[in-house]
Amino acid sequence: MCGIVGYIGKKEAYPIILNGLKRLEYRGYDSAGIAIYDGSNIQLCKTKGKVADLEEKIKKEITIKGNLGIGHTRWATHGVPNDINSHPHLSNSGNLVIIHNGIIENYTSLKEELLKRGYTFHSETDTEVLVNLIEDIIKKEKVKLGKAVQIALNQVVGAYAIAIFDKNKPDEIVVAKLGSPLAIGIGEDEFFVASDASPFIEFTNNAIYLKDEEMAIIRIGRDVEVRKIKDDSLVAPYIEELKINLEQIEKGGYEHFMLKEIFEQPTVIKDTYRGRLLVNKGIIKLGGLEDYIEKFINADRIIIVACGTSWHAGLVAEYIFEDWARIPVEVEYASEFRYRNPIITEKDVVIAISQSGETADTLAAVKLAKEKGAFVYGICNVVGSSISRETHSGTYTHAGPEIGVASTKSFTTQITVLTMIALKLAKIKGTISHRDFMLHLRELELIPSKVKEALESNGKIQEIAEIFKDVKNFLYLGRGHNFPVALEGALKLKEISYIHAEGYPAAEMKHGPIALIDEQMPVVVIAVNSNHYDKVVSNIQEIKSRQGIIIAVVTEGDTIVKEMADYIMEVPKTPETLTPLVTTIPLQLLSYHIAVLLNRNVDQPRNLAKSVTVE
Ligand code: G6P
Repeated sequence: MCGIVGYIGKKEAYPIILNGLKRLEYRGYDSAGIAIYDGSNIQLCKTKGKVADLEEKIKKEITIKGNLGIGHTRWATHGVPNDINSHPHLSNSGNLVIIHNGIIENYTSLKEELLKRGYTFHSETDTEVLVNLIEDIIKKEKVKLGKAVQIALNQVVGAYAIAIFDKNKPDEIVVAKLGSPLAIGIGEDEFFVASDASPFIEFTNNAIYLKDEEMAIIRIGRDVEVRKIKDDSLVAPYIEELKINLEQIEKGGYEHFMLKEIFEQPTVIKDTYRGRLLVNKGIIKLGGLEDYIEKFINADRIIIVACGTSWHAGLVAEYIFEDWARIPVEVEYASEFRYRNPIITEKDVVIAISQSGETADTLAAVKLAKEKGAFVYGICNVVGSSISRETHSGTYTHAGPEIGVASTKSFTTQITVLTMIALKLAKIKGTISHRDFMLHLRELELIPSKVKEALESNGKIQEIAEIFKDVKNFLYLGRGHNFPVALEGALKLKEISYIHAEGYPAAEMKHGPIALIDEQMPVVVIAVNSNHYDKVVSNIQEIKSRQGIIIAVVTEGDTIVKEMADYIMEVPKTPETLTPLVTTIPLQLLSYHIAVLLNRNVDQPRNLAKSVTVE
């Protein structure tokens, strides 16, 4: 799981690649490197650390010039993060240079063969094996780079997005993809290669997204030549016109992407339901769903597969699907689901939720469900991502690029889509009254303004963060629809502040976590107006009588919890089923401010990556 960038054309490659790597750091940031061909040599610079460290190193050590180059930002899989294991990797002759996102699973056996043939290795990486395998094939088979890449990849087991060039053929870059994303930007007399379109969006709107098991030979003065890796057959590439713009992927005045993305939620929730939620007509229109309604209505059950924050959105969906549409729902961690020989039948509908659409476990779960005959529906944010292509149909969240590693706007936009699906199914099934249906349609339309209002507590939440920033443990409690929000609140805090936090259903507290409560322990309780309000009040009393500290998320105008809590964070009154969309906002802000106060790297927390394309 890494970010790759490449350039070939008339411009200086270095600034384009460096800038591209900065935009791709969400994919990994434990080391970085660049290789540029200057007309006679490959200039290579790599370092442990972030792209900014690489930039510093280059400033001090070398002058990089040239119109052909590749760069990499790494999230280590094989080999610790250090200068040597960083990409790009050179072949033994020094002629070939490669960058790779993915894992070559059979690299040990390939390496043994190459060692026998006299090759030497400097790093512990699988990638260095691949580049030498390609070199060996060029020598042995007397073939060109493209052909050698194709032969080599047919011997490889694993996943990859690679870009490679040969200094003896400086008008060409060869790329290939299986399992990891790869986009080719097509400019005038220039080409870009990257893990997503963000590194080249200011240069061109035209891109080819390679499909799995495809490779491309990108040559100056020629059209991009796309081939199937398996049999070398030519593929007619589809050139897409990109809709994202530069502003969408920059910070826009905010200190961090995460804060920007938290504050974007009123807008992106609206973008998610725009043209779909037609309140005046009393309908919900979801392009991807219309032709498959019967599949959902007749399903024995809906199985939701996802990871991380997307899994939490799935848990929220379980409440609303069962409540409104009366369809049994199971929510599964994709990583568990795929390995436990699950019972899946043709009468099941599987919904895969994934912001990136690239999470390896979720993608594998999708493939497994398809094999077993289930109808598979995707809810993704990234258009054209692997999961969105692999599923039978689906709905995009339209949240725009999410760069902060900790998901925020993805969560609320996923819930928005899931709410629309549940309401639509309930209406068709007749399991919701017209009155209730219309009420929720109207209320969903009001969510962006309520989220905006919830965001106004930002200053107050920052003050609360100041008080609790040095605490070592946090407990988050919620009931019903807000139990998954408690999990999500705890996850956000863990991810970006490195403070231990646990989310729990409020009523379960007495079966264990209550033992943790003392005067040091802050307990964040979601205590908004709901059917469970009185029960949550009792849970708060249980905590108070053990000297725990209560930080409560309450509905505006609340008096009871306000009296009992030590600190409160208010959200506007919302029907219970839609409360996760607003209660999650103060929890996002709380974790954000604590992390900032602790001087953490909010957008790139340690050990994490935005898109986990490895198991
Ligand atoms: C990573 C990210 C999380 C995200 C999860 C699932 O772990 O750090 O923020 O929730 O992957 O990602 P997906 O793209 O499938 O929603």
